[in-house]
Amino acid sequence: MAVVRVAPVPLLRGTVEVPPDKSLTHRALMLAALSDRRVRIGRPLDSADTAATLAAVEACGAEATGHLGEEVVITGRGLRGLRPPPAIDCANAGTLMRLFAGVLAGQAAAHVVMDGDESLRTRPMTRIARPLRAMGAQVFTAPGGTPPLVVSGGAALTGITHRLDVASAQVKSCLLLAGLFAEGTTWVHEPSLSRDHTERMLEAAGVALLREGGAVGVTGPVTGLALPDLDVPGDFSSAAPHLVAGALLGDPEVRLAGVNLNPARTGLLAVMRRMGVEIAEESASPVAGEPCGTLVVRRTDGLRATEVAPEEVPSMIDELPLVGVLGAMATGTTVVRGAAELRVKESDRIATVVGALRALGADARELEDGFEVTGSGRLAGGAMESSGDHRLAMLGAVAGLVSEQGVVVGGFDAVAVSYPRFARDLAGLGAVPA
Ligand code: S3P
Repeated sequence: MAVVRVAPVPLLRGTVEVPPDKSLTHRALMLAALSDRRVRIGRPLDSADTAATLAAVEACGAEATGHLGEEVVITGRGLRGLRPPPAIDCANAGTLMRLFAGVLAGQAAAHVVMDGDESLRTRPMTRIARPLRAMGAQVFTAPGGTPPLVVSGGAALTGITHRLDVASAQVKSCLLLAGLFAEGTTWVHEPSLSRDHTERMLEAAGVALLREGGAVGVTGPVTGLALPDLDVPGDFSSAAPHLVAGALLGDPEVRLAGVNLNPARTGLLAVMRRMGVEIAEESASPVAGEPCGTLVVRRTDGLRATEVAPEEVPSMIDELPLVGVLGAMATGTTVVRGAAELRVKESDRIATVVGALRALGADARELEDGFEVTGSGRLAGGAMESSGDHRLAMLGAVAGLVSEQGVVVGGFDAVAVSYPRFARDLAGLGAVPA
């Protein structure tokens, strides 16, 4: 496992062309494979997670040419035409396992064991297995509701109404995808809106969705999909570490170009603004039906602590670890609540974030459903572990830049899960990871 030391720097400046969105790349690859046409995907993210999804759709018989990071052209097999292999390796990718299980439930030829790495093997799958079974699908988990997951297709599916206790785009998407094959309407109710990329992309592919109150529904069986060619916009979650670093060190400014600004993803902006950070948004034309633009941020002295409310959590679920760094550099106590989901991400992110912040000298505490950080406006630095979690590795790098002594990040190579170029892009702003 790579150990990287990130040294403190006096300032950061410049522009990062933000890498393509991971969530959109997973979805584009899957919906292209189910389409009745050849689909050109421009700028699909080249990362460990999305490589696993490309391998999965190819193993199911979709022909793919080109390269992740540049362009991939997929010849779709049609909605019911996948020929799944006996086993699919989902690596670290929860999105692949959860979304593709919904697709496989509708494939007559499927009898598939879906498995993954050590981290994925700890993640809860009952949240998709139970509603898929209620639709009539044959889905089995290991005892404890974790992977491996066994999905057998071919059973007749019926639409259900499912109420999520916790907002989850992965569960919602899994059920909408299975709903394409089900008789009648599949409704998903969420307590608050999670990212709606699947909905936008299904509509672009010609599927009429129903909306009522906070619920979204699909009426099946759908005859076919035709995903139009698309380019993948930049990932807000990959812009976020640079955004936070820019708020602490941007002089005169850090620019994040080509970022997807879907409001279901950008909750961090409101939180940072409450803390006193000035962030300008320059909007550009939508890409793949998603709002896009450039973010411009500059150093803010005198950050104020804030409270992240439970209803804000879904729109910034993957950025909450970075709020810990901001909290440490602010005055007062920053509190994150209603975020128990963090315990079942790539690591237990309540434990790993608090553990890392404390190791770097911050005053941080775990809460059952979140964490608190009492800021002192400074971070000593030291050594921390990514715990194999890409978001933790990036937190460590940002902390290193603003720290007094630098930060040694163990397991830094976890960044390859979503952002293999992370260190290079950070160095382009003036950072010196070694
Ligand atoms: C994702 C949804 C989120 C997020 C994950 C990617 C997606 O998970 O944490 O990194 O692509 O749908 P949940 O929907 O389970 O909260």
